Amino acid sequence: MSFDRSVKIAPSILSADFANFGAECRAIEAQGADWVHVDVMDGHFVPNITFGPATCAAIRPHIKGVMDVHLMIAPVDPYIAAFAEAGADVITAHVEAGPHIHRTMQAIRGAGAKAGVALNPGTPASAVGDLLDMVDLVCVMTVNPGFGGQKFIHSQIEKVRLLREMIGDRPIHIEIDGGVDPTTAPLVVAAGADVLVAGSAVFRGGSVSDPAPYGANIRAIRDAAAG
Ligand code: DX5
Ligand code: ZN
Repeated sequence: MSFDRSVKIAPSILSADFANFGAECRAIEAQGADWVHVDVMDGHFVPNITFGPATCAAIRPHIKGVMDVHLMIAPVDPYIAAFAEAGADVITAHVEAGPHIHRTMQAIRGAGAKAGVALNPGTPASAVGDLLDMVDLVCVMTVNPGFGGQKFIHSQIEKVRLLREMIGDRPIHIEIDGGVDPTTAPLVVAAGADVLVAGSAVFRGGSVSDPAPYGANIRAIRDAAAG
């Protein structure tokens, strides 16, 4: 996984057909997805439950590119090895998920994955200031995590701008998660983001038997982001 700041579209399979993850992952990659975003929720850190490492391992062979695993779970440390063994390229944990985010980042890199740290909308950029020399990605949540299809929170754009300044020349991706569509994508890219997660805005109108709308949706976000 080489580093660059070009815009990458990362469809979230939270909006896919849960009975068809393998085919959905192949379909979104064939339709132009750069990364595949995998949302893990525990019903404790967030008020929704999705799936765990076994499902990640099962879908891994269906993803050619980057498998980007977003852990919305607490505690997180006991499960890092399992998600790394499942084949995650990027493992992102929330700064709010426990008192030892520094240790968590060390553990993710120690397990051989790229380390991501996520910030809820109510958490300031300064919460990751002391982590910037040990992370590969900062994820700015532009909705409160737990569900797809929520409204983009505009106050987060200033946080993205601040993080971009704090990051400087470090090879760290800024990922945006929540409410990304052709209207909001250009705003966050202008502020410094390069990875755009999108669930409902990618999967709407399509299916594994009719995947062309996925491609049109991905292109619409990419074109809007390019300005
Ligand atoms: C929210 C998840 C997101 C979600 C985004 O908790 O982390 O990845 O799937 O969905 P949309 O793009 O529909 O807001
Ligand atoms: Zn996510």
